[in-house]
Amino acid sequence: MTTVTEKFLSTKKIIVGTLIVCVFGMILVEKFYYYVRDHPCPDDTDGGVANPVPQSLQAANSHGDELRRRLPGALVIGIQKSGTGALLKMLNLHPDVKIALREVHFFDLDENYSRGMEWYRRQMPLSLPNQITIEKTPGYCDSDVTPERVRALNPDMKILVIVREPTTRAISQYVHILTNMQQRGVTYDSFENLAMKDGQVNADYKCIKRSIYVTYMARWLDFFPRNQIHIVNGDTLVSNPTTELKKVETFLGLKSAISRSNFYFNKTRGFYCMTDGTTRACLQRSKGRKHPEVNSTIIEQLHTYFRPYNTKFQELFGQEFNWS
Ligand code: A3P
Repeated sequence: MTTVTEKFLSTKKIIVGTLIVCVFGMILVEKFYYYVRDHPCPDDTDGGVANPVPQSLQAANSHGDELRRRLPGALVIGIQKSGTGALLKMLNLHPDVKIALREVHFFDLDENYSRGMEWYRRQMPLSLPNQITIEKTPGYCDSDVTPERVRALNPDMKILVIVREPTTRAISQYVHILTNMQQRGVTYDSFENLAMKDGQVNADYKCIKRSIYVTYMARWLDFFPRNQIHIVNGDTLVSNPTTELKKVETFLGLKSAISRSNFYFNKTRGFYCMTDGTTRACLQRSKGRKHPEVNSTIIEQLHTYFRPYNTKFQELFGQEFNWS
């Protein structure tokens, strides 16, 4: 009798033990699965892929309807120092928008492009099927290889460009470089000395070149129809963010969700900051830096220099800006 009871008890112990091991095993497997899914490995490569773009983006994106990393449906391609950061952070207020938290440089850097589309996807945030993922890399706008590569990945990609009055943008870029130099203890010449050469505008200075939007933006029209490119007025984004964001919502096919109540003016910063109703946030201090006083004659020369390029840019994109 005792032996039967002992046998029964030991069988029961084995069954209970096995069940516990199975349950723990399943929990561990599940945890491992979610960890791997949610933690992309930035240094993973897909092994020198010659053409990282699949036949069909649809197929590439059809892994089910759950929370997962999706390729971007829209790109902010520039223009550096025009308010690209503000635009992205403000769009992030929208419930149907997910933003990549860093500039990925997938299309413009061969090293990243050769890592392949799966690598690119792994750099994206988790999103739901009704959400659009947006990535911002201002280096895309004037990269020769980028428009073609973007089209190869997704011919329906929505292209967002933010522009700003070109002379102010050039000074902003100068301040950006100057600050970086100062942080490294390196001296950097004055804006006047760099922007001018023998009394003429120095067309070779990178801050000047980047402000000639038409030179590189025209190329995007060879790869994307005009209605797939939306140009945000960076000066209006500063003075009246809601107006510009409403237009972007329409362009991206999003419901209207960002409103005046999402912004409050911060006197100390001199810019609008954001709120979702519970938390408040301004952009980081590197956005909205003080500009140096630039000689007014040079400013006038720069306006005159940029004017014909501005006219061409506005004609090409059929949009007017209130630039000097
Ligand atoms: P400045 O620092 O010259 O004022 P980017 O993000 O492309 O680098 O652009 C930086 C610029 O964004 C800033 O240039 C600033 O003028 C502009 N900007 C637009 N809206 C802003 C905001 N709400 N807060 C801070 N900067 C903003």
